[in-house]
Amino acid sequence: MKAERLVTSLRFPEDFLWGSAASAYQIEGAHNEDGKGDSIWDQFSHTPGNVANNDTGDVACDHYHRYREDVELMAFLSLQAYRFSISWPRVLPQGKGEVNQAGLDFYHRLVDELLDAGIAPMATLYMWDLPQTLQDEGGWANRDTVKNFQDYASIVYQAFGDRVHLWSTINEPWVISFGGHYYGLLAPGMKDAETALQVSHHLLLAHGQAVQTLREMGDKRCKIGIVLNLTPIHPASEGAEDHEAASRADGYMNRWFLDPIFAGNYPEDMLTWFGDKVPAIEPGDIETISTGIDYLGVNYYTRLVVEAFPSETLIGLRPIPVEGSEYTETNWEVFPQGLYEILIRLMNEYQPPAIYITENGANFPDEADETGQINDVKRIEFLQDHFLQAHRAIEEGVPLLGYFVWSVMDLFEWDSGYSHRYGLIYVNRETLERKVKRSGLWYKQFIQQQMFMGEAQ
Ligand code: FCB
Repeated sequence: MKAERLVTSLRFPEDFLWGSAASAYQIEGAHNEDGKGDSIWDQFSHTPGNVANNDTGDVACDHYHRYREDVELMAFLSLQAYRFSISWPRVLPQGKGEVNQAGLDFYHRLVDELLDAGIAPMATLYMWDLPQTLQDEGGWANRDTVKNFQDYASIVYQAFGDRVHLWSTINEPWVISFGGHYYGLLAPGMKDAETALQVSHHLLLAHGQAVQTLREMGDKRCKIGIVLNLTPIHPASEGAEDHEAASRADGYMNRWFLDPIFAGNYPEDMLTWFGDKVPAIEPGDIETISTGIDYLGVNYYTRLVVEAFPSETLIGLRPIPVEGSEYTETNWEVFPQGLYEILIRLMNEYQPPAIYITENGANFPDEADETGQINDVKRIEFLQDHFLQAHRAIEEGVPLLGYFVWSVMDLFEWDSGYSHRYGLIYVNRETLERKVKRSGLWYKQFIQQQMFMGEAQ
């Protein structure tokens, strides 16, 4: 047992929001029901070879039909908030034009159910499921998608703004841009650096426009932000080349998004590095992107230790494994102090008015014991160690207001399909039966007390 786990009482602020998260394509299923259009994830997962075991989100956790049972389970876990995403092609099957009322109705039912259970809804407008019709017109590389996103955002605010008071625009623009358009691992599966950079600019622009649209609609109760995956980057050695590589990786993954949002410019060193790959930026874009937000959502999973690697063409580096460190099944280093590092840095360098941890969690193998209990002790330790780092940051003045564990249940983990399990609730893939894991029970007790009750066993 590590020393820092020997904590018996550590209080979080009374009004701190403890929640959990999921996203539309990852849990809803019902991929072609009630008028929903195809998204790029329908197309991508239906193409053999893109997803582990050729899994798809066609059924996922069938949350579309089982949302009542799921909200009941969330209430059982004592969740105070639930972060979900709205499927754009469920609301606008063609991505624009005619609204699908049946799609909106699903989210009306979900939001009402959450509110009845005393769970605050946090809605994400875009968690990766672009309508396929818009992809056919160029997707996020086409500037028209920004305008279409703005229209979609205003339809959704109009429908739910009276009851949903926490909004986020885009989930993880870095992952969408580079995972989907440069590494080709995620939908739409492209491998082109220039496209990826253009996409990153359009996503940021879409974010800024959507913030402005919500503000114009004028409900002061609604708070809006963006969700970034932020990664502390450390050099593999003391050598100058590795230091430069680490600073470049930081520019690529963190500052490329933080600087335009908070400081109103793209980082100079990265503009120089990307050279003629720099995206087309029109006058006024940066002002739109840097429209003030109410909070920053941070998804934190791991750090990266990098070394210079000139033959990698986009960024000239590669991550290396850290000897002696523990890794999750996703092959991500367990590095709780990185959460503290990121939070302190945000406070010192970017001063966001507020922060939520919008995702943090871990993929570990979950096996039932002889009594059928999923004894996921590693997940409990992981969460406890990260909560401690969040607590440290709060004590040093970071305006952290809430924490969403990824994920509320085992779900479709993108290119890994159902082979990766992050949930607080176990989902049997044969029967779709749900079973609260030990980590879920631990989290429930933790939330009820707002404090640690002892060591993780
Ligand atoms: C994040 C995604 C989320 C989930 C976790 C493990 O990048 O936002 O949907 O896949 O990783």
